[in-house]
Amino acid sequence: MKILILNGPNLNLLGRREKDIYGNQPFETYFEFLKGKFPEAQLEYYQSNVEGELINKLHEVGFHYGGIVLNGGAYTHTSIAIADAIAAITTPVIEVHISNVYAREEFRHHSYLSAKCKGIIVGCGLDGYELAVHYILHMPNRPISVTGHR
Ligand code: DQA
Repeated sequence: MKILILNGPNLNLLGRREKDIYGNQPFETYFEFLKGKFPEAQLEYYQSNVEGELINKLHEVGFHYGGIVLNGGAYTHTSIAIADAIAAITTPVIEVHISNVYAREEFRHHSYLSAKCKGIIVGCGLDGYELAVHYILHMPNRPISVTGHR
């Protein structure tokens, strides 16, 4: 099964950016670990700081991949266009946030994306991506909502 990990703005700076919140590990290193964890899946990774590029990617893979793990970064809290793209495609999307957005500033408490996603995993650090892939592979028909306290 093909699964896309799609990261939005500023997530290219993981490992360098606000380490107390997002940790020390660049996503590229973590992605190698993730691929090793799920040899049965074909994992792909794409990151963009540009809203339209994220939408284009959702359109490109969203009718034939088995799942998409999406961390929309700050677009989560602003983008009706990304929400519409998730609603338009047939591939299930799991929303992931590294930090516990509900324990942070109020403007991070609302997500335009959640209602269009099959599940949401927040506050589990990078482990949230692993949980999301596990979910897509092994329990795709159950609704999922996980809040960790990172
Ligand atoms: C984030 C949370 C967002 O509020 C923030 O804008 C990010 C990262 C997270 O993974 O915790 O860029 O999506």
